[in-house]
Amino acid sequence: MTLINAGPSGSLRLAPSILAADFGALASAVHEIDTETDWLHVDVMDGHFVPNVSIGPPVVQSLRRYSTKFFDCHLMMSEPGRYLEAFAKAGADGCTVHVEVGGTQGLISDARALGLRVGLAANPDTAFERVAPFLGDVDLLLLMTVFPGFGGQSFMGEVMGKVEEARHEVDSNSLAIDIEVDGGIDATTAVTAVRAGANVLVAGSAIFGHSDPLEAAHALRAAALTGRP
Ligand code: DX5
Ligand code: ZN
Repeated sequence: MTLINAGPSGSLRLAPSILAADFGALASAVHEIDTETDWLHVDVMDGHFVPNVSIGPPVVQSLRRYSTKFFDCHLMMSEPGRYLEAFAKAGADGCTVHVEVGGTQGLISDARALGLRVGLAANPDTAFERVAPFLGDVDLLLLMTVFPGFGGQSFMGEVMGKVEEARHEVDSNSLAIDIEVDGGIDATTAVTAVRAGANVLVAGSAIFGHSDPLEAAHALRAAALTGRP
């Protein structure tokens, strides 16, 4: 199922990550970049799957009142199944779970039953073969370009082979899914990732860490579209 405001699969989308925004002024931070936002990326960390804690359903619920964008929730959690319903009720549009936590088929069905758009994520050192069996059942494949847990890390170019592999598999089987990259994306690495086959770009510090977030988002999109950083 594809929700109306997700947009067509495969088109270029910019997904600013609120992890790098000022949590004390989240609504205005999100509002400021609204015209350059396709999806809003919400990083959820449980202090167990990753060594950091971030935000949960109450923040999604509050933010929902201030934005009509597609909320792309990235669940960096060991037990995402316990929280899918809470995220759906809070106003998440899509939830992405990590393949490393196991129980993938059940998590996909549970997320679908809740009406969510479904994503599957893989860490940089997780082989494409781990996610390949599920590609026919999900709407999005998230290939991490850093080890999850923190914003502001450096893009891992070695993941591009996996992005190419995924793009080849998706196109040759005419699968209607998005390929998202997350971690260290800026105007330069966005070009590399799009060239390899990614179509959804998550960016935190390159946007919210900039003195003019809207201009930074605009430049990132322009680079991705033109292939020139
Ligand atoms: C990392 C998160 C990312 C993070 C990206 O664990 O999943 O979404 O916010 O941040 P930057 O763009 O700063 O690498
Ligand atoms: Zn993320």
